[in-house]
Amino acid sequence: MKTLAFFNNKCGVGKTSLVYHLAWMFMERGLNVLAVDLDPQANLTAMFLDEERLERLWPDSDHPETVYGAIQPIQDGTGDIGQAHLERIAEGLHLIPGDLELSRFEDKLSDAWPRCHDGDGAAFRAISAFYRLARKGGDQCMADIILIDVGPNLGAINRAALIASDYVAVPLGADLFSLQGLRNLGPTLRAWRKGWEARLPSKPSGLDMPGGLMEPIGYIVSQHGVLESRPVKSYQRWLNRIPLTYRESVLGKKTAQTPKPEKDNYALALLKHYRSLISMAMDAHKPIFALKSADGAIGSHIEAVHACHEDFLNLAKKIADRINIAKREE
Ligand SMILES: Nc1ncnc2c1ncn2[C@@H]1O[C@H](COP(=O)(O)OP(=O)(O)OP(=O)(O)O)[C@@H](O)[C@H]1O
Ligand SMILES: [Mg+2]
Repeated sequence: MKTLAFFNNKCGVGKTSLVYHLAWMFMERGLNVLAVDLDPQANLTAMFLDEERLERLWPDSDHPETVYGAIQPIQDGTGDIGQAHLERIAEGLHLIPGDLELSRFEDKLSDAWPRCHDGDGAAFRAISAFYRLARKGGDQCMADIILIDVGPNLGAINRAALIASDYVAVPLGADLFSLQGLRNLGPTLRAWRKGWEARLPSKPSGLDMPGGLMEPIGYIVSQHGVLESRPVKSYQRWLNRIPLTYRESVLGKKTAQTPKPEKDNYALALLKHYRSLISMAMDAHKPIFALKSADGAIGSHIEAVHACHEDFLNLAKKIADRINIAKREE
């Protein structure tokens, strides 16, 4: 079971869309997939489920079937994580639903982080809550891969989500903000990894703790953030700077020469702007590449749907290769 987070503190770079589409694609490739929505915006959950189901998941009272419901005993100081409710999306695809209430956990996690140094069991239980919940859920559905979606920030919830992850992929756009974002993200990831390493020896015995490897496997550039009015040349200019910035900031490597993004090993995908297919897919609660004529994908859309399938198939294969998971039924 491998855990992969899609992380960038820049908003709107395609994290949630990637987790959603890759979850379906890995399932299509015969893997058991668990998606975990650790973003308090809960956009991933809203992509998977219809409004009627969302209303039942998030009543005015307790939320026993969401991630917040599962960690609530820790939040309230009444016990450890509860059962992992798995929402069945399809055969081989499950979701631990997100929750707007999850933002309440931020302070608890901030407070727990320094206390781990003192060997405080409750602090370790809080920091590892997402990890243990994802493992529990993963065991329940025999997941081969766990995909984690997080919100756009460098806060304590994301630190705990990343500590729960074996690998991290970085979605980004080809623009100034994304490059500046990379410069914050890389050192932050390294600081979290080192910080966890320093705390692990103080952990109480008998508690299953994550390794906190969060190994970066590469970046995914989406074109959709680019303003229509911006010249192609400017897009290409920013794009060309990504390989170097990724190496320096995320990998902490000094390199004299870097390849073009199209040839870069760390470039997992350069995704197109999927335009109107995006809203069609949202309405149908389906990935773009599964859209049919009944969903409105007619005429030239059909070709675009096939092209999107190709994009995500290639991306899924590359990721599987990087994190060393084999397709079940070749
Ligand atoms: N390849 C694409 N083509 C067109 N639109 C896209 C593409 N990828 C994502 N989008 C759209 O861009 C917006 C932002 O995408 P998404 O929500 O996946 O980003 P995010 O990084 O998860 O955002 P946040 O930081 O708010 O969580 C959404 O409206 C989404 O539908
Ligand atoms: Mg998102």
